[in-house]
Amino acid sequence: MTLTPPRSSALFRDDVLAGQVALVTGGGTGIGAAIARELGSLGATVVIASRKASNIEPAAAGLSAELGRPVTGLVADIRDRDSVAQLVATTLERHGRIDLLVNNGGGQFLAPAETITPRGWDAVVATNLTGTWNLSRAVADAWMLAHGGRMINITMLTARGFAGMTHSVAARAGVEAMTRNLAVEWAQRNILVNAIAPGYIASSGLKRYPEGLLWAKQLQSTVPLKRLGTCEEVAWLVAFLASPGGGYITGQTLSVCGGRSLWGDHWPLPDPDPLPEIQVPTEPWEQEEDG
Ligand SMILES: NC(=O)c1ccc[n+]([C@@H]2O[C@H](COP(=O)([O-])OP(=O)(O)OC[C@H]3O[C@@H](n4cnc5c(N)ncnc54)[C@H](OP(=O)(O)O)[C@@H]3O)[C@@H](O)[C@H]2O)c1
Repeated sequence: MTLTPPRSSALFRDDVLAGQVALVTGGGTGIGAAIARELGSLGATVVIASRKASNIEPAAAGLSAELGRPVTGLVADIRDRDSVAQLVATTLERHGRIDLLVNNGGGQFLAPAETITPRGWDAVVATNLTGTWNLSRAVADAWMLAHGGRMINITMLTARGFAGMTHSVAARAGVEAMTRNLAVEWAQRNILVNAIAPGYIASSGLKRYPEGLLWAKQLQSTVPLKRLGTCEEVAWLVAFLASPGGGYITGQTLSVCGGRSLWGDHWPLPDPDPLPEIQVPTEPWEQEEDG
């Protein structure tokens, strides 16, 4: 069974971001696609970008059809500064401004620390920490330092141990520290910088892990709310931070995690029996392939 995502915002007035241009990395899949859909449904002009045309092109076409106006899809690698400069230049050429940057593109592989190779470490840090910096700096230089704007960095839960994710949790903690610093340094440029730390979210990203849905099902029992979050539940917080409601929030990392960031093992919470089935949403443009 697939979840059908809402085609208009379930929460906000549908023109609340009208006139704004939003750039969403990793916007062709999972959480990023839900963010792109939500921002577009609120009236923003949306640009999505990632490395693979096979992710970006169908998503841009699908979102354009859903929203009834064009979503721009651009191929770019956030690790590569030339590619990032080109992405920002093309976005400005086509749309004239960048009001909102969502640094959502990222990824890692699950690995015990002792098995992470130097190459694996470098790749995860280059993507998740340096990639976020590359795009933040490029967008600031080309637009926001002069005109203001908002940046939202998607990270992960970093406050407690996250076994199997040493490389990524270190990189994301770096992004959260960078978020605090940039919020202070760029406050007088009218740039608000925040981070959102998703807990366990039922996204297409889960399919990348070998244990996939089986692992995800077990994860539910470690969450006080006893379920995974949805991509929309992350997207709604992005929309709030982008909206006038987010105007006095900067430098913060907000968790969307069903209480996972708080709960220790000493306080047993019984599992429901059975645990809920996992429902991973399929984008409309993926259905033919999957079915
Ligand atoms: N789902 C969760 O439970 C969860 C929890 C915490 C944090 N997160 C984070 O939330 C973000 C979205 O995750 P998701 O669950 O939606 O998984 P996903 O579908 O794997 O999304 C990752 C996206 O990042 C893009 N990307 C990866 N490397 C890139 C690069 N070098 N340059 C540009 N784009 C790149 C990918 O597209 P290409 O392959 O086309 O480049 C993909 O669209 C990720 O940063 C993820 O680590 C997810």
